[in-house]
Amino acid sequence: MVGLQWGDEGKGKIVDLLTSRYDCIVRYNGGANAGHTVQVGTERYALHLIPSGILSPGKINIVGNGVVVDPEKLLDEVDGLRKRGVAVGSNLRISDRAHVVMPYHKEQDAALEELLERKSGKLGAGQIGTTRRGIGPAYSDKVRRSTALRMGDLLDHALLLRKLETICGLRMAELEALGANVTPLVPRELADRFAAAGEKLRPHITDTVYLVHDEIKAGRSVLFEGANACLLDIDHGTFPYVTSSNCSTLGIPAGSGVPGRMIGKVYGIMKAYSTRVGGGPFVTELLDETGERIRKRGREYGTTTGRPRRCGWLDLVAVKYSVMVCGADAIACTLLDVLSGFDELKICVGYRRADGTVTDRFIPDAERMHGFTPVYETLPGWQRELTDCTDRDDLPREAQSYLAFVEKFVGIPVELVSVGPERTQTFESNARFASMA
Ligand code: IMP
Repeated sequence: MVGLQWGDEGKGKIVDLLTSRYDCIVRYNGGANAGHTVQVGTERYALHLIPSGILSPGKINIVGNGVVVDPEKLLDEVDGLRKRGVAVGSNLRISDRAHVVMPYHKEQDAALEELLERKSGKLGAGQIGTTRRGIGPAYSDKVRRSTALRMGDLLDHALLLRKLETICGLRMAELEALGANVTPLVPRELADRFAAAGEKLRPHITDTVYLVHDEIKAGRSVLFEGANACLLDIDHGTFPYVTSSNCSTLGIPAGSGVPGRMIGKVYGIMKAYSTRVGGGPFVTELLDETGERIRKRGREYGTTTGRPRRCGWLDLVAVKYSVMVCGADAIACTLLDVLSGFDELKICVGYRRADGTVTDRFIPDAERMHGFTPVYETLPGWQRELTDCTDRDDLPREAQSYLAFVEKFVGIPVELVSVGPERTQTFESNARFASMA
């Protein structure tokens, strides 16, 4: 299950719904930059690192090796869930090879962003607009190897201390070079603090690659939960305005140890319009009242950072590209209810370049998308609120046509439709998907 846009497609809700059909739920990428909001009855849960399956008893939730884990944030999340009566024990397993996000990663993240902001003066002109959760620096350390820490290292105080003795001096120099206000990094303090976190997490830390393969061999089913989204993928998103992991389905094999050919079905989650947080190209962005209306109706403020999200019309050029890269078999369309009340709705089906030529291909490179404007199809809107609809046939004719347009353009069916935040406000809709030949 993967987001087909720039994140915040309502994946938490769909994965929560799909978990009833699977035995294990696996996160394979990203870190606490992700935020899933899941509503269960009147309770609203914001999950960052723990797979949403934690809210359904009897599931195994795995944080795979491709995730970067902030151990203290993870412990806060565990405590928060337990306080609300959610059982967290052997149902949560964390890869011993997942990399650790340390406090200095968050300082590096912020210092680099601030440096770029000072240099360029505005978001989108060099500054990425990160969540400042230390994601980029933690993945940088993973690739650099000699300055990396993995979750398994937290279980061995002497090893952790030895590694931190190398890391801290180097990191201080790097932070100083970025112009950060450096508080001295003391290896022993950090080792004590993070070994303590490791002790608390010890019962959960394991070799998740064998674990997930053992589960598969025993006939149990696995749902891979993509965090962030395809267009934020480090290789296939709108580089450099992306996150630092492979958040498309292409990240599953590396981030979980399960080969791609074992993956059965891919659900792509698509919001009925577009949003993005942070900098980067966004061809259908609406900087007017319509954008504001979508933001208000869709409560488009970040789960992780609280930042207002940039809003715009549905960009099917982007979605079709993500469907191709992720190998999506079906779409789950979320937040369709947000589009009620518009006289007409626009859907982007092409990009017009600065020289006037038009393309129907997505270009995953911010520089090369510069100056693109959208080519729209205009569809009639509908006035009725959709929150009580329980079936695709219940939807106003115009909303049905909107979904049919998506299916025809993208070439795969919309199998799930969500019209409100609650578990009950989602229905399956495999109706009327004509052949796309
Ligand atoms: P980072 O992942 O914190 O480094 O941020 C890189 C970019 O990805 C920024 O534009 C973030 O706003 C965006 N981003 C990262 N994770 C998410 C997410 O889960 N939803 C939406 N945007 C995200």
